[in-house]
Amino acid sequence: MNTSRTIFSASLTANLTKTACRGIAPTATANVGLRSSHALLKPVTIHSSRQFSTSRKSQLDFFPPPKNLPHIKTTPASWPHPAVTEEQLKSVEIAHREPRTVSDWAAYNTVRLLRWATDLATGYRHDPNKPYVMTERKWLIRFIFLETVAGVPGMMAGMLRHFHSLRKMKRDNGWIETLLEDAYNERMHLLTFLQMAKPGWFMKMMILGAQGVFSNGFFLAYLVSPRTCHRFVGYLEEEATKTYTLAIEDMEKGLLPGWEDLEAPEIAIKYWEMPKGHQSMKDLLYYVRADEAKHREIHHTLGNLDQTKDPNPFVSEYKDQSKPHPGKGIEHLRSKGWEREEVI
Ligand SMILES: [Fe+2]
Ligand SMILES: [Fe+2]
Repeated sequence: MNTSRTIFSASLTANLTKTACRGIAPTATANVGLRSSHALLKPVTIHSSRQFSTSRKSQLDFFPPPKNLPHIKTTPASWPHPAVTEEQLKSVEIAHREPRTVSDWAAYNTVRLLRWATDLATGYRHDPNKPYVMTERKWLIRFIFLETVAGVPGMMAGMLRHFHSLRKMKRDNGWIETLLEDAYNERMHLLTFLQMAKPGWFMKMMILGAQGVFSNGFFLAYLVSPRTCHRFVGYLEEEATKTYTLAIEDMEKGLLPGWEDLEAPEIAIKYWEMPKGHQSMKDLLYYVRADEAKHREIHHTLGNLDQTKDPNPFVSEYKDQSKPHPGKGIEHLRSKGWEREEVI
């Protein structure tokens, strides 16, 4: 018998079918969902006795060098990940910044609405008062879907600020690079999780639709109120931090046995420079969660600033170096962001 194993059970199919039938789409679409739900995530076939093996060829080929090229030896990450300590990774917490203005409330309620729709679409339920329904596969569907969306705002905001700078012939004050780095980091999350599961065509359609709607909506919203958009992303990142925290807690409770002996993919080990002995799936979730908490801090802070005049506090040099201040790493992580008077 072939030694290959499939990662996922059949419960996803049942779940998506239920989701489609609950009215996420008109009847015709629901029928498509019924027929095609098996295609949401293709199980990755692994020629190993270990689930989610890190030794698949596509994975080994992803990071440099993609091919044996005549002149190029390696292509390192354009934005190397800032160093983090284990203590910093463990200290990340779920947090919420209370909305204070009408624009904050608009941003927060939009995130709540999107979260509800995403929960429905990805079959996510994490209610301590109801039976536990999550599986390794359901978590991966959620991660992959969320990360395809999460990479949009940084790129869109960075692009619009770039155009603004060109059009107005003014400096940008250092925001663009942080925003693009945010988008790059989100894409690294996606590429990492894609080493564990490959979306089928139905999920690809969902991702395509979500990107079409979200990227255009965010583009227009950012032209109207960039401050509200940064607050919106701050709230989105609160949810992302929560999602990864719950996944870590579930692992620690033994609810996700398929991940217990699982190693992080090679792409993740290289990108986060995960030290030996800390290269497991659980370690990976700690790294990703810390990134989400960093995005939460960045966007809540940017949402507190004057969008046209203030410099980017995350790349600025401070007069008083002895006081904690924002930076690239998470040594002084502020879950609710920095207030303007603290950093400008
Ligand atoms: Fe992410
Ligand atoms: Fe994020």
